[in-house]
Amino acid sequence: MRFDVLTLFPDFFTSPLKQSILGRAIERGFLEVRIHNIRDFTTDRHRTTDDYPYGGGPGMVMKVEPVVRALESIVPHRDDSTKVILTTPQGELFDQAKARRLAELERIVIVCGRYEGIDERVREFVDIEVSVGDYVLTGGEIPALVLIDAIGRLVGGVVGDVDSVKDESFSRGLLEYPQYTRPEVFRGLRVPGVLLSGNHSEIELWRRRESLRRTLQRRPDLLEKAELTEEEKRIIDTLKHHTEDRHRRDTPQ
Ligand code: ADE
Repeated sequence: MRFDVLTLFPDFFTSPLKQSILGRAIERGFLEVRIHNIRDFTTDRHRTTDDYPYGGGPGMVMKVEPVVRALESIVPHRDDSTKVILTTPQGELFDQAKARRLAELERIVIVCGRYEGIDERVREFVDIEVSVGDYVLTGGEIPALVLIDAIGRLVGGVVGDVDSVKDESFSRGLLEYPQYTRPEVFRGLRVPGVLLSGNHSEIELWRRRESLRRTLQRRPDLLEKAELTEEEKRIIDTLKHHTEDRHRRDTPQ
């Protein structure tokens, strides 16, 4: 898969794309990421990329011509295997389901918004507007890295162990079970005995139950959307009853 990023701050991407799993995937050719400086697509002597807003008001607005010129140079012909994404807090919220759908594409072009705003007409030249959360960042570079990371790791070959992508939080709409590694006891905190038992079916059942317990406690909204087996629904009912019993016991009558 290939990503093209249009930004005013190309240096932003240098180190993150060299590190760890993404760095290795790029080095080995599973992912290709090209960073383009929007300023290189200006035509005036001052290489202007922003200007005052029509109608007045504070701040500067990113100009439309350099962005569109960059897009037309980088993707002269668009087809269904390519999407152009604008990162903006006004976009659709990004989640794992979107990451999975976008990972099917051959090419993704990301336009990083900046400053107080971007000329509204840029929106005519993008396919999707994406927000990485309900908060405002200083620009679209960190969101672009979020997209590259979340989508890129779903591309075949990027994450060595395929099971760790399949089994993780959100892949089935549930949070992950607790994990432990050595030592067995740290400052009195013990690893749950079942994980040391060597009994694989018991371990699997414990993990399923803990994943459901954690989701019920922390993100009950996810349970409404998750596709659960009958056994998992029964486990949730039991967990809910236990919680209610504990609540009744702890509440003075
Ligand atoms: N640019 C600034 N804030 C953003 C956000 N939350 N998501 C995407 N792009 C942004």
